[in-house]
Amino acid sequence: MSPARLSRRGLFGVLAASAAATAGCGGLPAERSGAPLTSRLTLPQPFTVPLPLPRTARPGADGTYELVQRPAQVEIIPGHRTEVWGYDGTFPGPTFDVRAGRPARVRIVNELPVPTTTHLHGGVTRPEFDGYPTHLVVPDSLTGRFHPVHGQHAGHGSAWKTSPGRFVHEYPLDQPAAMLWYHDHRMDFTAPQVYRGLAGMFLVRDDVEDALPLPRGARELPLLICDRAFESDGALRYPAVDPTLLGEPGVTGAHHQGVEGDVILVNGAPWPEAEVAAVRHRLRILNASNSRRLDLRLDPPPPTGSPFTQLGSDLGLLARPQHLDQVVLASAERADVVVDFGAYPVGTRVVLRNHLGAGRARDVMRFHVTRREADDSAVPAVLADVPTLSADQAVRSRRFDFRLSGPGPHGKKWMINGQPFDPGASLASPELGTTELWTLTSDFHHPVHVHLGHFQVLSRNGRTPRPSDAGWKDTVDVRPYEVVQLLVRFAGFRGRYMLHCHNLEHEDMAMMANIDVV
Ligand code: C2O
Ligand code: CU
Ligand code: CU
Repeated sequence: MSPARLSRRGLFGVLAASAAATAGCGGLPAERSGAPLTSRLTLPQPFTVPLPLPRTARPGADGTYELVQRPAQVEIIPGHRTEVWGYDGTFPGPTFDVRAGRPARVRIVNELPVPTTTHLHGGVTRPEFDGYPTHLVVPDSLTGRFHPVHGQHAGHGSAWKTSPGRFVHEYPLDQPAAMLWYHDHRMDFTAPQVYRGLAGMFLVRDDVEDALPLPRGARELPLLICDRAFESDGALRYPAVDPTLLGEPGVTGAHHQGVEGDVILVNGAPWPEAEVAAVRHRLRILNASNSRRLDLRLDPPPPTGSPFTQLGSDLGLLARPQHLDQVVLASAERADVVVDFGAYPVGTRVVLRNHLGAGRARDVMRFHVTRREADDSAVPAVLADVPTLSADQAVRSRRFDFRLSGPGPHGKKWMINGQPFDPGASLASPELGTTELWTLTSDFHHPVHVHLGHFQVLSRNGRTPRPSDAGWKDTVDVRPYEVVQLLVRFAGFRGRYMLHCHNLEHEDMAMMANIDVV
């Protein structure tokens, strides 16, 4: 059986006595293994809070965007104050809305009590700007008190890079229109830092998309869906071994499979409601949960037509739209869908449900169809020119096995090919400009994510992929004991990138590997 806790010792030392004094005082009661965390305050009735839209990020006078990571008190559960760690103190962070081919510079200023690193998920970005887990922005408050130390990574000191206070990322954005997202990626502490609020949406637009008569403006809704739990005082509830996030990483044992909360948030609001006109809306859906999977359906389904018309997936438009009854998203996956509220009588309340959720976590949000309006949008039969990769384009094949392994010299951990993450080692060296055939196997649900490499799903258990696999992807929902084949294209830049499980607790507990694009 699994040990009481799965965590990794000795990666960091903190000379701050205060951090050491408070480390490891979790004191949470045991919860059933794998069960969601239970909130300890009275939760609001569903569909009583309006759907918020994060503000749009704007560049400064010098053309550089600036995001200040800082703690902030916000009202998530009505009547309670919750401290979040947010980009500009907001959760989710500001939404970027930028043009393909126009490079963006984003300055991250860290005013949090912990180091951070920021990754643009799905971005084709040089390795030094990719938010590698050991490239840390160390806040001024920790200067001189925080340093990566030896332990497991002795001898790999060169993997660590620290920037005092701030760091400017350069994103070329030389890639098709898509909904990317940005989030924290700090070594060993990604899960708790994203949970506290470090995530936001990043829309890339291009002329191909602009030429389509899709719903736009107020009829395009970015929806960042995630789950959280709350303490009685309104604080976010998370089972960190060390709640300061400066000492020992990891979560208490019952949660090593992945942390789920009992409150579903959309754009940071619990079970919100959006008033919509009876017209087509474009929903840009991101599953930003640490580990919760989503199988989204509409209740009631529309009297005519299919509930969802999918336009795109992780990395942009599909060649043709597909009609779906359900939208299935593992952590970090995105879906770009149109819902035609014109199919419903005015006055209808349409609930977006997660059929994989239990109890109150089954509800996500509600749309209230309040009025008729003219609709000049349409979903064309052909959306974009998306070439289909074929296996004969692959120049080599590799296998990656995602599994809870051990006990061994490293204990029992989430590993890839039997290896826990080692920042000094790499599992593959694909060549820039080539396509590879990757076979993924697993023992559990593992949403597998590749940095830089964009892929198409070739097969699942030797059969055709699922609808949720369509298009260019950066994350694939690998299910227990499945064999999933991908064609992965490496384009953009040479250097060190990664491959990891996007169940953030698995990621923190070693299920990552380097890939060196050569
Ligand atoms: Cu969304 Cu390596 O992460
Ligand atoms: Cu990524
Ligand atoms: Cu996993």
